[in-house]
Amino acid sequence: MTTACEYKPGLEGIPAAQSSVSYIDGKKGILEYRGIPIEELAVKSTFLEVAYLLIWGKLPTKEELAAFETEIRYHRRIKYRIRDMMKCFPETGHPMDALQTSAAALGLFYSRRALDDQAYIRAAVVRLLAKIPTMVAAFHMMRRGNDPIQPNDNLDYSANFLYMLTERIPDPQEAEIFDRCLILHAEHTMNASTFSARVTASTLTDPYAVIASAVGTLAGPLHGGANEEVLEMLEEIGSVDNVRPYVEKCLKQNPKHKFMGFGHRVWKVKDPRAIMLQNWAEELFEKKGRDEYYDVAIKLEKVLVEEKGFGERGIYPNVDYYSGLVYRKLGIPNDLFTPIFGISRVAGWLAHWKEQLEVNRIYRPTQIYTGDHALSYIPMEERV
Ligand code: SDX
Repeated sequence: MTTACEYKPGLEGIPAAQSSVSYIDGKKGILEYRGIPIEELAVKSTFLEVAYLLIWGKLPTKEELAAFETEIRYHRRIKYRIRDMMKCFPETGHPMDALQTSAAALGLFYSRRALDDQAYIRAAVVRLLAKIPTMVAAFHMMRRGNDPIQPNDNLDYSANFLYMLTERIPDPQEAEIFDRCLILHAEHTMNASTFSARVTASTLTDPYAVIASAVGTLAGPLHGGANEEVLEMLEEIGSVDNVRPYVEKCLKQNPKHKFMGFGHRVWKVKDPRAIMLQNWAEELFEKKGRDEYYDVAIKLEKVLVEEKGFGERGIYPNVDYYSGLVYRKLGIPNDLFTPIFGISRVAGWLAHWKEQLEVNRIYRPTQIYTGDHALSYIPMEERV
């Protein structure tokens, strides 16, 4: 018999899987992918190499990486029928809904569930990693009334995405910093969207449905959707002078007001990813000019962490706090910040999909029933 003491809202602190994909120490500020510190991978690796590491559990040899990159490059284009489907999406729709719909649509073409076939698994990994950036860029172009830009086979993964999105070849610094952002967002142990991916994977459905589940979960403002909300908050604050009045107003209205981009279930120090993103934002600002909202963000962090006691309570900026300021400087619109998070996290979701297939046990937790028992059906005329 399950007792109330075993129930933890949000499954806080409850292991939902055994995994070797990544590791976090929220107090020491450690994040490792397959045992390698994120700080090393972010500056020494590339997103596709990290995706290979996460999914197949080892750094690829030169030949393995070259073959993987070639396969990805070959599969970047999306079927015209998916493109035609996307043309029917409302221009005002959110790109995360477009991404979730088009990711699921891939299953219409490749839904065989040969989950014990390594060739099927590899093909699904390649298709999802290769086509999801193209689908995000295609929706963005079409919602502005333009034809989608075809992938440029001369460009690597990150440069090609920026090219498809902005219609211009990015400079090396932009492509490099964007690739590092993708590395940073690729994996993060048992976050909500990864848990969603594992639950969906546990029913042995196809990988396209798994990714569609995870995309829908990531979209929420308490999860990946926070990066877009942070920019809206900074834009609402508007200036450094208005930071304190804004904070006072929010806390007066609701002492439990949740400031977007702050706090985390695991990180009780400043998220190391936020630190790196902040450094890369400053690298971009040196060359492209400072963003006025960066000063607002710095001031808000100082006021909340130092003056409002957030620091003492372990509430610090998380990965979503500074990422939008990097993307803005790369010419990316606010509502694409979360889809970009999704483009990256597909690597982690696929790693957990494969790991869950090896567990091969459907998720079916229990509950603590709090309702009534043995009630009688009430005829319509007697209802109030
Ligand atoms: C991501 O899980 C992951 O790994 C996710 C992620 C990943 O890479 O996959 O890291 C990506 O989703 C980052 C988080 C992005 N979301 C936000 O920035 C939204 C704002 N943050 C909060 O909603 C919150 O911090 C969560 C959702 C991120 C975490 O929620 P928890 O762990 O359930 O924490 P909680 O709500 O129980 O808060 C604990 C305390 C509460 O105060 P008390 O009741 O103890 O007095 O901290 C306070 C909260 O009020 N608190 C905040 C706060 N976050 C927590 N107070 C003000 N502002 C905040 N942002």
